[in-house]
Amino acid sequence: MTRRRLLQTAGTTAAIGAMRGAEIDPAWVQAMESVQAAVATASEDPERPIFHFHPPANWNNDPNGTLFYKGWHHLFYQLNPFGTNIGNQHWGHARSRDLVNWEHLPIAVWPSSALGERAIFSGGAIVANDGRPRLIYTSIGHAEPEQCMALPQDADLIAWKKFAGNPVLTTAAHGPLKVNQWRDPFLFRDSGQVYMVCGGNARTGRGGSGQVQLYRAAKEDLSEWRYLGCVFQPLERETYNIECPNLLPLEGKWVLIISPHRPCEYFVGTLDLEKARFTPETHGILDAGDAYASNISRDGQGRTILWLWGRTNTPPGHGWNGVMVLPRILSLGPDGFLRQQVPAEFQSLRASSQTFSARLLGNQVIVLEGVHGDAIELQAEFTAPNSSAFGFEVRRSASGMAAAVVTFQRGMLSVGNARTYIGDSNRVEVHLFVDKRCLEVYVNDGAVALYTALNAAPEDRGIAVFARELQFARSSDAPAANVTLEALQVWEMHPATFSLEHFHL
Ligand code: FRU
Repeated sequence: MTRRRLLQTAGTTAAIGAMRGAEIDPAWVQAMESVQAAVATASEDPERPIFHFHPPANWNNDPNGTLFYKGWHHLFYQLNPFGTNIGNQHWGHARSRDLVNWEHLPIAVWPSSALGERAIFSGGAIVANDGRPRLIYTSIGHAEPEQCMALPQDADLIAWKKFAGNPVLTTAAHGPLKVNQWRDPFLFRDSGQVYMVCGGNARTGRGGSGQVQLYRAAKEDLSEWRYLGCVFQPLERETYNIECPNLLPLEGKWVLIISPHRPCEYFVGTLDLEKARFTPETHGILDAGDAYASNISRDGQGRTILWLWGRTNTPPGHGWNGVMVLPRILSLGPDGFLRQQVPAEFQSLRASSQTFSARLLGNQVIVLEGVHGDAIELQAEFTAPNSSAFGFEVRRSASGMAAAVVTFQRGMLSVGNARTYIGDSNRVEVHLFVDKRCLEVYVNDGAVALYTALNAAPEDRGIAVFARELQFARSSDAPAANVTLEALQVWEMHPATFSLEHFHL
């Protein structure tokens, strides 16, 4: 591909400059053009989320290489440029100043047929001791997965080049131990050293055999690694494999997050890097809904940010499928469990607001008058005895069918098939984000967070609050539920910006 042909195709010189002499791979051009060709269809879909991060078009899954660098939040992600189903994994790329509004950037890493690559699977990013970021990803297409590195070609991290000495780590590092499904490097730093964890399983028949392996960089440029051992193997029999492990320090503890082919789980505990051993103290479900494959970044304010893929189950023909869950600030609660909170930056999207007065809710469903509930933020507080159920009907049709019912009942939250424990306090604080095909529920200051996909017709925009008494439900003279709605405020949300200005060849 000549420079001239590229300029004709793309009509811009922006990223050509950024490619800075790097050879232009026709496979990259083809992938970029394929995404561009799907943009019109994707952006015309009235059910595409407006404030959840999404690629310009087509399929995405895991967040990758999340990194805050020189004032920008960089987000790489698993992208299928060629369609709306999983496959052909590339690394898409975008950046944001505020976690809300994004600039799409050119595809950063793609499979090189010359290297025998079929796919670029998930991985992480870290700033090496020379001050330059590195991406480390799983290269697929060889006899065994390999961990490989890419380096930025410019100060803005737009163009990336694979390290000439790839792979930087192979399964040979494990000696006699056979690690299956070995992938998803995640990088962290401790006492001046750089560490990596990878997922996989040992099929040992002990526990579930899902394992997290730990490595330490043997060279400052991260081109060589030493295997330290299996840092964690959960006891659950059903954890037969672990994807996307994240190991991070948080407020004096260490947190391990795993994606075990079911909702992500986390452990808070201690880490002995010498013995290569993570010891859990508490264990929780990170998100019981449709979120998966976490990644972590640490921003300029010292906030630890959790990134998750949000499935949307978009039917074919819409030009897109998948989002990122809203980024979440992680902290530790006094009970030793995680708290997950949506960054205050999202308040910048709040448009008109409505406040509903406090009231006692009987056995009834109250539709919130005048709320167009397909792109809203909602905050509410309830006091309720244990004998009642209450919550919200979301994306309700004119005939009263709801796409999702958010129910609080006997210490549990349920949304569709997802159920999670919230604790038995009589006071429940609820924070909802509805964004077209996406719903997020945050409870009691982020002690519980749940993302789920929605399926509604564009005109189904009603939202209702309800309560009902459980104990006497079968009796004809059932008493009114004794649930008090203490406060309720709803904001309609402006769309976030997803600029395509830099998404060019
Ligand atoms: C998790 C995952 C990872 C893998 C990637 C491939 O969703 O299966 O283990 O690297 O997706 O897209």
